[in-house]
Amino acid sequence: MTRVAVLTFVLAAAGAALAACGHSRAPVATEADAARAGVSVAELNQGRRLFVGHCGNCHLPPSPTDFPPEAWPGHVGEMRERAGLDATSEALVERYLVTMAQASAQASR
Ligand code: HEC
Repeated sequence: MTRVAVLTFVLAAAGAALAACGHSRAPVATEADAARAGVSVAELNQGRRLFVGHCGNCHLPPSPTDFPPEAWPGHVGEMRERAGLDATSEALVERYLVTMAQASAQASR
């Protein structure tokens, strides 16, 4: 990965954030999200905090809806080491992203 490519990625991410102006890129999980995932709201939002804290250091944190639910485990696994997440934190981040991506997949049906 070259510096230019990284810069391009960062600029693209910044552009996407501007385009999404007014919408949170990391929506707070609700009771409905927790019920769908079969976990507590607290657990989902713990994943959200880890995501916001660890996944926005190099690029803006992606939006959960940037990828379909089934794509997230691969991306999080790829980024885990870079983000300095242990296995427990990785699982929380992954559950948050998969759950919030499912919300939008259902809403668009
Ligand atoms: C140490 C820097 C760093 C951290 C921390 C980091 N990333 Fe990344 N991320 C990158 C770079 C650089 C790329 C560009 C593509 C590549 O090198 O794989 C990238 C690309 C991505 C992509 C796009 C992949 C694609 O195929 O389009 C996603 C999604 C992503 N990161 C998610 C995350 C998540 C989720 C976290 C937190 C768990 C995270 N990143 C933390 C550096 C980082």
